Amino acid sequence: MLLAQRKALVTGSSRGIGRAIAIALAREGADVAVHYRRQRAEAEAVQREIEALGRQALILEAELESREAVEEMFDAVGDAWGRLDIFVANAAASAFKPILELKPHHLERTYRLLVENFVFSVQKAVPLMEGRPGRILTVSGHGVHFTLPRYGNIAAAKGAVETLTRYLAQELGPRQITVNAIAPGVIATDSEAFYMGEKLAAFNAACERATPLGRVGRPEDVADVAVFLASDWSRFITGQVIVVDGGLTLTSGPFAEVLGR
Ligand SMILES: NC(=O)c1ccc[n+]([C@@H]2O[C@H](COP(=O)([O-])OP(=O)(O)OC[C@H]3O[C@@H](n4cnc5c(N)ncnc54)[C@H](OP(=O)(O)O)[C@@H]3O)[C@@H](O)[C@H]2O)c1
Repeated sequence: MLLAQRKALVTGSSRGIGRAIAIALAREGADVAVHYRRQRAEAEAVQREIEALGRQALILEAELESREAVEEMFDAVGDAWGRLDIFVANAAASAFKPILELKPHHLERTYRLLVENFVFSVQKAVPLMEGRPGRILTVSGHGVHFTLPRYGNIAAAKGAVETLTRYLAQELGPRQITVNAIAPGVIATDSEAFYMGEKLAAFNAACERATPLGRVGRPEDVADVAVFLASDWSRFITGQVIVVDGGLTLTSGPFAEVLGR
């Protein structure tokens, strides 16, 4: 197993991509702290799946917009394990609106959750990684380098996370901690359904046509890359953004739609 004896914390692992990452890390031998905000029953289901794999699972509830809650979450990991090997900053949420319609609280909440909380979390995670190789993973997105409708708020925050990923890689390299981002394309989760609303089925069909690998992504597509980035196999990779999108961003405009592949 690639991650035997490792201790991991995955934020937002009650569902979606975070859930798949938590289970994939456990399958490779890691004990996993499953973080959730509201959905305790779903977090407990993930805990049961991890325990069925023979691993230990902690359940941690935290509103990541609260600095105190983040602090308590890492303190709970420290109390239970005394260390952390893998920290996956996956949780995200935002208001999807045109930039001209954004209110101060939309900006504040998105930046607090994605940027401030991430910096503060890393400040709490690094001491728990002291003296051993560590892995920090962030989750970026498709909309950072390409524009998506109503996506500017979260995209700008994710852009900051990508920049922090590079700066942290430089600062934490001497401690043998690597910091890398995964940039998923379109992955079938609750947040994709929320973003697309009633257009979900039509959007997925269009994505299948526009994606060289011919389908919408699954959370497991991202989770397997997270396992690689959390393992020794990626030991000389740091500060990188790994795109996991089936080739969606290789295509440009309506060429394939009109001319065929
Ligand atoms: N799905 C995609 O197509 C896609 C594409 C690119 C990037 N991504 C990124 O991948 C990551 C996971 O996305 P997903 O689609 O799996 O999302 P999701 O299904 O909406 O799950 C989001 C997770 O984050 C947690 N969360 C949200 N706001 C929080 C807060 N304020 N405090 C604590 N936890 C909070 C949620 O907890 P609760 O369940 O308690 O609300 C949930 O566990 C995100 O960073 C997202 O931006 C997704």
